[in-house]
Amino acid sequence: MTRPGLHTLTGGRGLLFGGDYNPEQWPEHVWAEDAELMRAAGVNLVTVGVFSWARIEPEPGARDFAWLDRVLDLMDESGIAVDLATPTASPPPWLGHRRPETLPVDESGHRLWYGSRNQFCPSSPVYREHALALVEDLATRYAGHPALALWHVGNEYGQVCHCDESAEAFRTWLKARYGDLDALNEAWGTTFWSQRYGDWAEVVTPRRAPYIINPSQQLDWRRFCSDALLDHFRAERDLLRRHTPDIPVTTNFMGLFKPVDAWSWAREEDVVSNDHYPDPADPLAPARTALTHDLMRGLAGGGPWLLMEQAASAVNWRPHNPPKPPGRLRLESLQAVARGADGLCYFQWRASRFGAERFHSAMLPHAGPDTRLHAEIRAHGRELRELARVAGRPVPARVAMVFDWPSWWALEERGRPSDRLNAVEQLFSYYLPFWERGVTVDLVPPSADLTGYALVVVPNLFLVSDADAGAMTAYVHGGGVLVVGPFSGIVDPRAHVRTGRFPAPLRAVLGASGEEWQPVEGPVRCRWAGGAEFDAHTWTELVAAEGAETVAAFAGDGRPAVLRHRAGEGVAWYVATMPEPDALGELAERALADAGVDGILPEPRHGVEAVRRGEILFLLNHGTETVRVPLPRPATDLLTGSAADGHVVLAPRAVAALVEPSPQTPPPGDDIEITL
Ligand code: GLA
Repeated sequence: MTRPGLHTLTGGRGLLFGGDYNPEQWPEHVWAEDAELMRAAGVNLVTVGVFSWARIEPEPGARDFAWLDRVLDLMDESGIAVDLATPTASPPPWLGHRRPETLPVDESGHRLWYGSRNQFCPSSPVYREHALALVEDLATRYAGHPALALWHVGNEYGQVCHCDESAEAFRTWLKARYGDLDALNEAWGTTFWSQRYGDWAEVVTPRRAPYIINPSQQLDWRRFCSDALLDHFRAERDLLRRHTPDIPVTTNFMGLFKPVDAWSWAREEDVVSNDHYPDPADPLAPARTALTHDLMRGLAGGGPWLLMEQAASAVNWRPHNPPKPPGRLRLESLQAVARGADGLCYFQWRASRFGAERFHSAMLPHAGPDTRLHAEIRAHGRELRELARVAGRPVPARVAMVFDWPSWWALEERGRPSDRLNAVEQLFSYYLPFWERGVTVDLVPPSADLTGYALVVVPNLFLVSDADAGAMTAYVHGGGVLVVGPFSGIVDPRAHVRTGRFPAPLRAVLGASGEEWQPVEGPVRCRWAGGAEFDAHTWTELVAAEGAETVAAFAGDGRPAVLRHRAGEGVAWYVATMPEPDALGELAERALADAGVDGILPEPRHGVEAVRRGEILFLLNHGTETVRVPLPRPATDLLTGSAADGHVVLAPRAVAALVEPSPQTPPPGDDIEITL
């Protein structure tokens, strides 16, 4: 049976618009006003009940659903669909008080208490029993309710626990992976530092220890933690599916969030959703956001995804929280639409009066509806209705970028040549030049089928399996263009170093190999074969060409810094250092030329984003200056109805959604000016 998905919600509704709705924080007379204001703002989806466990089950075994019945009925009468949450992210104090073993324990053995949220041990059978009993009753109660459109399991999974029950669950997981202790000892390399295990009972979680912990043990621990949470997610999901087979199930990711291997999670849910809060103090935030959105599209298998949470204005959890200036709310939301989102939701609908998030912005601020912020929300809701045709449309990409959680985990263990290598920063530094040129990139896991892409970029893949290295090699031989960044292909899936010249499993396809990593303090001068120079930083490698041409060399001693190798029908690049941004731009252009891929923007424009979704070309100005963007063809802006020929002029924070007119349409007029 095909599973329901985001299309189940968008069919008939167009793009989804709404947010977290926490009516339990308000007296009932406020709910009616909420519903009215939601309707006026064009809200068509709300997430209800995320933190309502204590309200529904005020004491063990009790159930109070009457209030939730009224909320769902009200939403239904108002034509607003409900994304109903299982409230299992924040158990009530009575659970931790009566059953302290459900509370998580940190790596030093300290128990974390209630009084905040997320206080549960993912491996606690008692927590699970209580959580599932509640989910079962919730599902029984609301199966068939006309407002129920989506299930939202838990919230932002990422909890870790080192208690004895977690250690027992870790051992069970390890037994399934390795079978016996000999295999575990071999995989963890326990002849090192006298770490051999003679009895399963000796195996514990990587608790606080005097010095560096075994990296293979740490890697398996991270795998286990992600799997343990996933197991809990699945248990809730299966129960929900049993009661409501036609209602899709999601849980909200947090982008490039280290604790959870999103590739393994995404295939277990019906809808991929994400919470994203760009840092207003980061000038590169728009590009980082684009990367996160592209990851979500990748997790959704190229299909649409849901922006489950964003802030209408300021958050309250950074040390200093300026509001979003006028127009940024719209710009950021439309950026998600352009990169494949079919739903634009916020945390939260109405700002809380009390609690830890009372100073977090909301769609409806404390000051009420007659505010500039709420006016922007309303205008945005209206505008999204005009964009309904975008729903379900694909975002085509000919370039893929590989990212992998176990490799990330393994790379960033202690005791390596440089702590300054950061998997996400490395990914972002390679992503940025493509974003600046309007080249759409799909994020993919290393096991993805690469054959449909003209160019595959691997910014760092420290840990690689033989199979994935083989597939990359075959991809190049079959005509693909591959770019591999430094310190890739170094360890196997157990985090054991692959001996021989590196990167051992990719050496043949790269036509190059190395023998020594040489991290550096200051910048290192490099020279392109044509003579132009650039700086690299942090990392260099002693590498020799073995059939590859040296495209750039370290200026000091002339040894290779960037290599290019024709292998079979394709081309493989190897970058043995960390070039400065402009040099990565040059590298991206050369690799794009090898692959025959053009960017939408004729030259890099930092702050201007260009991406195609379906037949629409989105242009977004994240910068502070008005820009003039040349158009490949005449087009009409869906957002304003104006026609443009030649150029579009975009004020700061302006967006154009351009469609090329069909041949019958009369020729377009002059340039158009888009202002807020
Ligand atoms: C997360 C959570 C929400 C809320 C917001 C605040 O995304 O899921 O409950 O705490 O952050 O930004």
